[in-house]
This record gives sequence, C-alpha cells and structure tokens, in this order.
Amino acid sequence: MDGGAGEIEARWSTRARDWGPPSGTAPVDDARINFDQGLPDPSLFPIDELRRALDQTLAEDGDQALRYFGAGGASEMQYGHVGLRRTIADRLAARDGRALDEGGVTLVNGSTDGLALAVNAFIDPGDGAVVEAATYPHTRRFIGAAGATVATVPVDDDGMVVDALPRALDELRAAGATPKLIYTIPSFHAPTGTVLSEPRRRRLVEIASEQGVMVLEDNCYHDFSYDGPPPPTLRHFDDAGVVVQSDSFSKYVAPGLRMAWVAGDPAAIRGVVRVRQDFAVSALLARALQRLVVSGDFDRHVAELRDHYRHKRDLTSAALREHCEPLVSFREPTGGFYFWLRIADEVDWEQARATAAAAGVAVRPGARFTDDTSGPQHVRLSPIQVPEADIEPGIAELGRALRAAVGPSPAS
Ligand SMILES: Cc1ncc(COP(=O)(O)O)c(C=O)c1O
Repeated sequence: MDGGAGEIEARWSTRARDWGPPSGTAPVDDARINFDQGLPDPSLFPIDELRRALDQTLAEDGDQALRYFGAGGASEMQYGHVGLRRTIADRLAARDGRALDEGGVTLVNGSTDGLALAVNAFIDPGDGAVVEAATYPHTRRFIGAAGATVATVPVDDDGMVVDALPRALDELRAAGATPKLIYTIPSFHAPTGTVLSEPRRRRLVEIASEQGVMVLEDNCYHDFSYDGPPPPTLRHFDDAGVVVQSDSFSKYVAPGLRMAWVAGDPAAIRGVVRVRQDFAVSALLARALQRLVVSGDFDRHVAELRDHYRHKRDLTSAALREHCEPLVSFREPTGGFYFWLRIADEVDWEQARATAAAAGVAVRPGARFTDDTSGPQHVRLSPIQVPEADIEPGIAELGRALRAAVGPSPAS
C-alpha cells in the first residue's frame, strides 16, 4: 500500500506521538548468558501448581470464572475478583499491621499497569512528582506522560536520601508545580538493590503526610529478603492513608500471568479504579491464584525461590570479587534481583559492554535507569534468571571484557 506506515502514523493522536517507549529499553533475549533481564528463574515457574489451581477453578467455579463478573457483583469489573482481593487484603493487613479489606485492593494487569493507574489517579498536567534518581523507567515515563514536572532525589546505601525530599518538593513548588506524588521502591530497589532504612521510612511517610503528597510504594521485590525478615513496609508507618502500595505476582510466580494489585486507603483505591480503561483482570486467573495462595503452594514456592536466589546472590558476589574487582565496586544486595555495579573510571564501559556482548554476555547499562550523569559508569546485573552453572563463567567473561577496556583514567 502506498504511503503505508508514514500515512497511518500521521493520523496518530498526540498521545500516541508523544508517548514513546522508554529510551532503547528492549530487553536482551538472545544472549548466551543473560544478566540483562529482571526475570524470575523460568526453570522454577510453578507450572504443576498453576495447572492444578486452574483445573480446580474450572471444575469448581465453572461459568462463574468465565463471566464479566461473578457472585461478587459488577464492581468486580472495576476492582477484580473479590475473593482474591479479600485474600490479599487479609495478608497485607497482617504483614503491615494495618486494617485492610477488599475495598482497599484492586487487581491489575501486572504492577506496571497498576503503577500507571496510580500515577493517573493523582497526577494532572502541571503537577509535580518526585522519583529516585535511579528508578524503574516505566513509572518515570508514565509520570512524564501524565504531564508532571519531575524532581529527583539521590539514592545512597540506605535507599532514597529522604533528607533531600523537602528541598525537592520546594523546588517543584518554586517551578509552579503542586507536588502530588512521591514514587519509591523502598525494598531491594531496582536498579540499585538498596533498602530504605527504617528511620527514613518513618520520615518519608511523615513528610508526605505533612505536605499532603501521596506516596507510591513499589514493593514487587519485598519478600525476597535473603538475610533476615523483610523490612516493614511504608504502609506500616502510614497513619494518614497517603501510601498507595503496588505488589505483583510477577516475580513470585511468573510475569506472564500479568496479575498484580494496588492497595491502600479505600479512597485512594477508588481513585485508581476510576481511571482504568479495562474491565479489571481475568476472573479465571484471579480465582486460580486465590487457590494457589490459600492452598499454601504460593508461600512454599516463595520460600523455595528465596533459597535459590540467595544462593545465586552468593555465587554472583564471589564471582564479582574474583573476576571483576577492582574494576567494579558493588554493595552486596540483601535481597531482590539486582547488583548495581560501579565501573572504574579507567574502563571504557561502552567498549567493555560491546566485548562482553560479542562473547554472548548481556548486562543492562545503568543509563537506562537515570536521567543524570551517574548512569554511564553503572551497570545493573541480575543473576536470577541465569542458570547457576553459567553465573561464574558469565562474570569471568565480563571481567575479561572490563580488563580489555582499561584506558587512561579521565581524571589522570
Ligand atoms: C521496580 C519494578 N516495578 C515493577 C515492575 C514490573 O512488574 P510487573 O511484571 O508486575 O509489571 C518491575 C519489573 O521488573 C520492577 O523492577
């Protein structure tokens, strides 16, 4: 057809034109040893347990599982299946020490969907939002697409530098933007692996409550704590109902399910469901996942994953020390998926990346996660989806690539 793609693209809406994908973020999927993706280990997906839960759902719930909504009523078309929401609410209430019922939980198609909905529920064009200087780029993009002015605060070894938050909020006001939202990944942060300290958690919620700003707490790695119990959530400290919490089955069960939830004060969740443009989530899948949780299979599976992933974390630390130090420095993560490597200044990282890629080893450039200049000498490495036997050889290859790319330090 003449004209083809160009002519069609000329008919796109402003939104379709302006909302490009985050810069160059297509995940690598053809590397021999792939440290690029934040994928849970696919060899451990609980396929038998899922099959059992799905079979039981169809056998026991029949047509109820296949309607727009079931006995829970038409609000399931906004909030999702009421049974899974109750199960999740009970667990969150126990975990966070805060009362919660199904009115404070909505099911979403992956937490990326939930994060976009939460952004759209609270942000108008011209509003302000704060994000960590290195963050999950999709949420950063949704905030930009909603028309917000964005301020960043740094992340150090204890997570977001909360002392810098008041100034960031003031800067937004000075720029004419009303601060509405603070987005943070407090537990096993992506990409840096850090954990927000408890005093900072309290202070963050205090500042948000005092200043009337909502907090979007992205919790998708929270239960992968390898060296002790996970930290208390932000919602645990939230007396004012300002925390909207996002969690997901993606990392605990499988991302292809696209099932996650947003939880918080029922008034906040009402806002979230008002901006959605679907009929919530698959009732069949929600019912099956409720069975997976209620049967105990889910908790058993997460406990097993934690052990496997801790071991991979340990193998990765040892291999980085042996093959890559001192050309990289890193803080061993206490949970989650990610090592955040600082590459020594004398390494030409672009050259090292290309050499490693040619040898079949992929990692994710830090620049994907930051707007500032700290990104280019950082790398996010996830060993979680890499078979155990490949971790050490892959990191040895990375070490060879780093050593081959050593040049004069820019400072010398
Ligand atoms: C911080 C963070 N939030 C959200 C997500 C998205 O997860 P989901 O599959 O639930 O959309 C990811 C996935 O990598 C993530 O790293």
